Amino acid sequence: MSPQLSHVESPMTVTTLHAMKQAGEKIACLTAYDASFARLLDDAGVEVLLVGDSLGMVVQGQQTTVPVTMDHMVYHTRAVARGRRRALLIADMPFMSYARAEQTLANAARLMAEGLAQMVKLEGGRTQLDSVRLLAERGIPVCAHLGLQPQYVHKLGGYKVQGKGETAALAMLDDAKALQEAGADLLVLECVPSSLAAGIAVAVDVPVIGIGAGKDCDGQVLVSYDALGLTPGRVPRFARNFMAEGGDIRGAVGAYVAAVKSGEFPASEHTMA
Ligand code: KIV
Repeated sequence: MSPQLSHVESPMTVTTLHAMKQAGEKIACLTAYDASFARLLDDAGVEVLLVGDSLGMVVQGQQTTVPVTMDHMVYHTRAVARGRRRALLIADMPFMSYARAEQTLANAARLMAEGLAQMVKLEGGRTQLDSVRLLAERGIPVCAHLGLQPQYVHKLGGYKVQGKGETAALAMLDDAKALQEAGADLLVLECVPSSLAAGIAVAVDVPVIGIGAGKDCDGQVLVSYDALGLTPGRVPRFARNFMAEGGDIRGAVGAYVAAVKSGEFPASEHTMA
């Protein structure tokens, strides 16, 4: 195991994340939606703060992420930016905010210039190659989100494991390579079989952050409300409540970071077959 790069106190950048992948150091990521949580997570060693459109569900109480707007995303991203110190700040492009080229550019620019995001994330595989290329060519770092894409829940017919079976797995692997080729700097894989996620993490040079994608990804992300036992109702099987072992929020986030770094999380019970 190489030296733990996360001990270096300089701000996290795309370059640092790539160096962590090279060095085999796991990347710890959590969602954040406000300044206070951003500061707490950052102080506890979380390296990537994601302002996920999951805020529609856990903050606004919506049934899905579909009603989340650009104004919501800019507002919460700006709040997180005020609390952030060292972690890299990624903001989700919400539903239909990247359906056309001009709109994609304008909305990504808002998240960067008004929200102070350092990277934008969008859901989709091959269909998003043009958007990723457009943003990357204009100097906007992009994270592509593959596997379960909650913005398409109505089309998918529910929150289901993606990439099962050889054809679907090969298609996702191809998509991952094509997204990297188009300029994506980071990939998120949600709810995919761990063997597929492991294969994708080896096949691409960019870091792969998993959520319900097994232990062999280059890093892990959870919705912070799930990790802290705050989510009312059903919590995804791949999540783990770190409050029990952490004692308080600060301790729980520290336990999450330590479990990601050591490879202890995710365990087999948080993994899709
Ligand atoms: O919106 C979100 O929080 C996300 C994560 C679940 C990856 O996209």
